[in-house]
Amino acid sequence: MRILFLGDVVGKAGRLAVKQFLPKLKEDLRLDAVLANGENIAGGIGMTCETLDELFAAGVDFVTSGNHVWRHKEIFSRLEKDRRIIRPANYPEGAPGRGHAVLTLKDGRRLAVLNMLGTTYMEPLPCPFRTALDWAELPELADVPVRIVDFHAEATSEKKTMGYALDGKVSAVLGTHTHVQTADAQILPHGTAYLTDLGMCGVEQSSLGMDFEIVLNRFLTKLPAAFKPAKGDISLNGAYMDINESTGQAREIRIIREHCPEWKLERKAEQGG
Ligand SMILES: [Fe+2]
Ligand SMILES: [Fe+2]
Repeated sequence: MRILFLGDVVGKAGRLAVKQFLPKLKEDLRLDAVLANGENIAGGIGMTCETLDELFAAGVDFVTSGNHVWRHKEIFSRLEKDRRIIRPANYPEGAPGRGHAVLTLKDGRRLAVLNMLGTTYMEPLPCPFRTALDWAELPELADVPVRIVDFHAEATSEKKTMGYALDGKVSAVLGTHTHVQTADAQILPHGTAYLTDLGMCGVEQSSLGMDFEIVLNRFLTKLPAAFKPAKGDISLNGAYMDINESTGQAREIRIIREHCPEWKLERKAEQGG
């Protein structure tokens, strides 16, 4: 099964990058499924129903999220209803929506997806390692060998250890949240594809998609100021994987990195973020 997983899609620029680059990638890579982390699709923080619909219309099949998922309240009921979106699984009971799902493709093939938050330098949530190891043993997943994990975490040590913990139990462990693509795409000894961070879709000449000037000022003055999505050339970052559907093991993982200076997000296009 050929899968593309896109790193955090940030604001209008990120959505534009997906719209511009995805059709050709789908054709060139003969993709069976496209997944994306959508925690930043609405103005750089959170998701709204409208921006989610835009992502699905652009060809994304399934959306994971992260710590910013709760920003817009309208998403709470959408998380309950829409089986194409998940939030981190290790939030305490009572959080809206679900943290894992099985996606059925148009031809009936299935893949399982799990989303989790790291706990190093992040919220003190229940243990993501226990959550993931229990998930991998769920009886309903016994006949779903293709399993993709989005580990939304800050620390590289935590992400790499998650790869090791799940090696041979899932098809891929992919990091999100830090928005900077790492160069360590690899297949672990027991067949799990691994990448510490997928990177992001949006304006790369920025601080994680946000305007440098505001971020620098916050560092210099330590005063609060609202972030604003950056403007400029847009990029798309993610990883392509080919998974053996009978064993669930990865045959290949490679980073995807598209950049086009001609597709600039200008001030005019940014309206509505
Ligand atoms: Fe993010
Ligand atoms: Fe995040």
